[in-house]
Order: sequence, then C-alpha cells, then structure tokens
Amino acid sequence: MAKNTKKPWQGRFSGKTDKFVEGFTSSIDFDNRLYEYDIQGSIAHSMMLNSIGILSDTELKKILLALEKVKKKIESGKMVWKDSLEDIHMHIEHELIELIGDTAKKIHTGRSRNDQVATDIRLYVRDEIRNVHESIIILQKTLITLAEKYSKSIIPGFTHLQVAQPMTFGFIMMAWFFMLERDKARYIDSYKRVNISPLGAGALSGSSHKLDREYTAKLLEFDGSTDNALDSVSDRDFIVEFISNSSLLMSHLSRFSEEIIIWCSTMYNFVDLDDKVCTGSSIMPQKKNPDVLELIRGKTGTVYGQLVNILTIMKAQPFAYNRDNQEDKPALFSCVDTVIMSVQAMNICFENLKLNENIAKNSAKKGYSTATDFADYLVKKQIPFRDAHEIVGKTVAYAVSKKLDLDELSMKDFKSFSSLIEEDIFDFLNVEGSVNSKQTSGGTSYEQVKIQIRKAKKIIKEYEKN
Ligand code: ARG
Repeated sequence: MAKNTKKPWQGRFSGKTDKFVEGFTSSIDFDNRLYEYDIQGSIAHSMMLNSIGILSDTELKKILLALEKVKKKIESGKMVWKDSLEDIHMHIEHELIELIGDTAKKIHTGRSRNDQVATDIRLYVRDEIRNVHESIIILQKTLITLAEKYSKSIIPGFTHLQVAQPMTFGFIMMAWFFMLERDKARYIDSYKRVNISPLGAGALSGSSHKLDREYTAKLLEFDGSTDNALDSVSDRDFIVEFISNSSLLMSHLSRFSEEIIIWCSTMYNFVDLDDKVCTGSSIMPQKKNPDVLELIRGKTGTVYGQLVNILTIMKAQPFAYNRDNQEDKPALFSCVDTVIMSVQAMNICFENLKLNENIAKNSAKKGYSTATDFADYLVKKQIPFRDAHEIVGKTVAYAVSKKLDLDELSMKDFKSFSSLIEEDIFDFLNVEGSVNSKQTSGGTSYEQVKIQIRKAKKIIKEYEKN
C-alpha cells in the first residue's frame, strides 16, 4: 500500500480493501463539511491529553500548529479527498502524520471515531440551530413590517375555504409570526440536549486513560458532558429532533405558501407577487407563476422524507455504534440546506408581496361574512344565540334567493325576520364594524392587532439584545 494512503486501522489486515468497497464505505464526499468541527474537537482533545501528561508541551505545540496547517490546506482547496481514507477524521489524522510524523500518532489516544463523529455533529448542529434561528428572525421581522403596513386592510377569513368572517391582513401576518415563534422555541429547547459533549466516551465504554472530559467539554463550550459512554456514541436523538423541528417549520412555510398561491390566482387576485419571485411558462405567454412558493411546498416533502430517513436508520440498531450511523449525515446536511434556503426564499416572497386592498376588501363583503355579527346583534337584543342563528340563516337564504348581499336588504325585509331589528343593523353588517367588534384579546380588531404587533416587536428586541 502506498505510503500516503495507509489506513489507521491497517494493522489487523493483510489484504487490500476492494476498490468498490472503498467507494461504497467512504463518506468523505459529504462529511468533509465537518472539517472545522473535527479540528476544533482535535484541538480540545490534544489540550486535554497534555493536561493529563499524555502529550508534552512540545508535542502539543507541534500538533496545534499542524492542525492549523491542515485547516488552511482544506480551506485553500488543496486537500485531496480520497475514498481510501474513508472520512474526514481519517483524512485529518493522516495529514497530521504526514506533517509531523510520530507525534501525530499520539492524538488518537483515548479517542475513537465513534465519540469523535458524535462530537463533530453536535458542534455542527449547534451552529446550524443558531443559523436557522437567525433566518427565522429575519422572516418574522418582514411579517411585522407587512402587519403594520396592512394593519387596517380588510380581507376575508376562510374556513373550509368558504368565506367565514372578515379580518385584517395584519392579523393574518401576526398569526404567521406566532407560528414561527413556536418553531424557534422548539429549536431553542432542543439546543440544551445538543450542547453536551460525548467526547471521551471512546468506542463505547469509556477509556482506561484518565481523560478529563469536563475540560474538553469546557474547551468546546459545551454545557457539560454526557452521562453514559454507551449512550453517547449511539445517540442520534438530537438529529431526529432537529429534522423533526424542521419538518414542522417546513409545514408552516408550506401552509403560508399555499395560502399566497391561492391569493395570487386570477380568481382571487388578493395579492401580487413581484416579477422578481415569479417565473413564466415556455408556452403560455400570459403566465406568471409562483414557483418559489410551490418549491417551498414541494421541499417540505423532501424534509419529511429526511425525518423518516433518520428515524428508520436508528430504528433497529443494536448498541452501540454501527456504520448505519454514517448515513445520518446526508439527511441532516440536506435538511439544514433546504430549511435555511426555504426560509430565505419565503422572506424574499414576503418582502415583495403587495396586497390588492380594494379587491380583498370587496371580497370580504361577499359571501355573507358578517352573518355572525348579525346573529351577535340579535343576541344583544336578548334573543338566545340558537334562535338568532336560525333567524340569520333564514335571512341569508332569502338574500341568496334575491342575489343580494345582507346590507342590500331593506328595513322591511329585515323586519319580516325579526321585529327587533332596527336601522343600526347596517353598522354591524359592514366589514370594518365587524372587524373592530372582535375586541377579545388575540382578536382581529385594529386595536388587538396593534397589541399583537407590539408584543412581536418586543420578542424580536429581546432576541437582538442577547
Ligand atoms: N464516518 C463514520 C461516521 O460518519 C465515522 C465513524 C466510524 N466509526 C467506525 N467504527 N467505523 O459515522
């Protein structure tokens, strides 16, 4: 075997690895993404080995300098990745040996690739949680801007995709803000389970060297170290949690997308998406398609697939480490990329969204959206709600038969359904009146939405302080 491809585990073998098998077992194509974390982990591990007398000061110095060189080589694109060296851990160790010879051979004392890879991915997920979090905050700020801009703009609210009650566009933007707030909270909650160091767990049962696990944990800015070595090397719960939290976030983005896709269709025409975020058709010249939003909706399926992927990889593994675990990374990396890109894409769409205020408001007037307000009006006149519901139902049926809206009926028409109805009914049938009557906390009245916006701004300010 050529000097530069010697495998660290070569000793026990007399035969060469099959070339195809080398390619099949290699993960370097994707796990080279972890190089920075692997180097961070190696620095901490070496410093700890020095602190317990396994590495001398000179040896430590040599290793740290060499690690810096390896990092620079990778970052300059000069590193040649080889399937024969399997993964990022073996590449870095091999490179160190090439640079400083025997001293480098001491670095793997008390360490296994099993605790090494577990450490690397935790460091990676920790950073990506921060990145996703950041991108959600940017999106939330855009929602606040839209909510303020359209705080008094009326749009129909739907249930069963049938006109239900009028609301403001700002109110909807705030609904979406608080959905994203829960997504953020889920990532933050998972962070404390990610940020624990498995380093020092060894292959599966700990080490016979007096490793100082608390020291490496501290150097790597973990909150502490894991409690059980066996669990440490086989735990991938934090990846499942990350992808699960991402799945829920994507389901939210997908629902926002679906809503906007409906709103910008020719039949609704409630909103306009800027040319910047739309694409055309190669055959139908009139088309302006919301492809970005459709892709977000489609990519949601990709992330759900990644969740099933990681759950299935973990499902029947005997303890402790099995090579199955190597397959955790393609799912995780792709999930991270998809989620961050989707949040950014969503943000560009929101930044370029224009509400067609008159069309939206006129739509809210249709479909008898103030029928509930009419019933509430009768309740205020001491009619029990069930009876009021019946009276309004009959009135609506009559209006439908005459092809009229409720506010187009005459006083005589109203009186024929209840003698308690007076002229002031028209105030209740108008959409602004309806919206502003929703004064319960969390409601759609201008005042309540203002309170929601104020709270949202406070939340963002709090994050930005920290
Ligand atoms: N490339 C491996 C992974 O990603 C590293 C751990 C290998 N451990 C082993 N015992 N073969 O999981």
